[in-house]
Amino acid sequence: KIIILDFGSQYTQLIARRVRELNVYCEIHPFNNLPEFDNTVKGVIFSGSPFSVRQENAPQIDFKLFHNKYPLLAVCYGAQYLAQHSGGEVIPSTIREYGRANLQYINETHPLLKNIPRDSQVWMSHGDTIADIPAEFEVIASTDTVRVAAFQVNGSKTYGIQFHPEVTHSTDGKQLLENFLVDICGCSQDWTPDSFIETTISSLKEKIGNDKVVLGLSGGVDSSVAAVLLHNAIGKNLHCIFVDNGLLRKDEYTQVLDSYQHMGLNVRGIDAKDRFLSQLAGVKDPEQKRKIIGRVFIEVFDDAAHEVQDVSWLGQGTIYPDVIESVSVNGPSATIKSHHNVGGLPDFMKLKVVEPLNTLFKDEVRKVGKALGIDDVILGRHPFPGPGLAIRILGDITAEKVAILQEADAIYIHNLKASGWYDKVWQAGAIFLPVQSVGVMGDERTYENVICLRAVGSVDGMTADWSHLPYELLAKISNDIINNVKGINRVVYDISSKPPATIEWE
Ligand code: XMP
Repeated sequence: KIIILDFGSQYTQLIARRVRELNVYCEIHPFNNLPEFDNTVKGVIFSGSPFSVRQENAPQIDFKLFHNKYPLLAVCYGAQYLAQHSGGEVIPSTIREYGRANLQYINETHPLLKNIPRDSQVWMSHGDTIADIPAEFEVIASTDTVRVAAFQVNGSKTYGIQFHPEVTHSTDGKQLLENFLVDICGCSQDWTPDSFIETTISSLKEKIGNDKVVLGLSGGVDSSVAAVLLHNAIGKNLHCIFVDNGLLRKDEYTQVLDSYQHMGLNVRGIDAKDRFLSQLAGVKDPEQKRKIIGRVFIEVFDDAAHEVQDVSWLGQGTIYPDVIESVSVNGPSATIKSHHNVGGLPDFMKLKVVEPLNTLFKDEVRKVGKALGIDDVILGRHPFPGPGLAIRILGDITAEKVAILQEADAIYIHNLKASGWYDKVWQAGAIFLPVQSVGVMGDERTYENVICLRAVGSVDGMTADWSHLPYELLAKISNDIINNVKGINRVVYDISSKPPATIEWE
């Protein structure tokens, strides 16, 4: 494996993604909390950083720990750090070194630059520049304005690059990483979904033995893939629980339960609609709704888990971004990100936790799911919030409003699928607004509810753009909803992006 040491760059996770796209396993660790370097480590990458090496509180590392012991690729801040701490000089740039640049000079015989053409576009993003390098450093690539765009420390496998090979604007960045990983570190590119499945199943078998595991399924990608992996490892000793909180999409509970059963999972469905809805009655505040739903879910899940005799493990679909220790940009101290899936274990359950996906990024989870033969209906699903339609009904929730929203949402999603737009948007759903407005149907005046349609494009939900659905499609959806859903006489479309709006309305 490759160890990526994080100095707080916004691109660190991207480096890991690129390395894994080359079928090489890697892990991200904070620069100030080093992992054990066992004999599976084939190389080390230093990330960039929001700090300048000239700042007093800049992240420090004893790079002699790695230099000449492992191949070392230092990116941006990492490269400047190496230069400065070896007797070179790093100064503030006088010209802008942000954005696209082209490599004007390349040492074409250099193994790190194999198959990279002169003129290759690279992405620069730095405020400092390496003005001077020590005698034992050799420049192996330059741009018009940056003489030390890439260097090697002579006689070692230590390299520094000023640009960011991990971003797609560096056209040959992936080639450079491949050169480093394969030719220089000797990695064998055999980390694939199939090899992940094979090693995970055998290690789950060993870890769990004949114990029993309970796991809550949500219908989403992560919990489903985690369940299938566990099922392949321990079979019927995996007890899945799928709770109907009454806030799922139309027919979702039966459809999803059905496909789980088809996959051979030992799954128990629990209809807890009334329990959730009665606890939610009259509650308007979004955070209050979330708390109630979280609490009732734990109660229902715990009751069901207690019915499984002698269970000792709780399975969870936690993924890698939830557990990466992040380096704070406000200071070089390491903090652990908090997330609703992490530490979600209620005290009273006292189970050991097993998280088969906690080394994978989301897109890797999908690939593993595909290799496991999980249906596209589950793998291709849009994200859906845990509190479900409760946070898409603004204000208080009633069974009647849920039913109206389910109908409208089903028509919306059906039309997105039929027109090919479902897979083009990242997330879509209908929202029940807490207003009524006047309309006319036939000769009659109506005074009914408003449905808002939301569709966004996004990568990770942190930022999002509203999707430009065609007018004709919006017209058809509006027409279908108003003509078929009793209680709705007006449909609007949300054209706000995140930020400043959020994806959900509550
Ligand atoms: P926002 O509304 O914050 O949503 O832009 C970003 C993503 O998170 C989902 N979301 C939630 N997921 N529990 C969840 O499991 C929640 O309480 C919750 N709130 C928002 C939202 O659907 C979107 O994908």
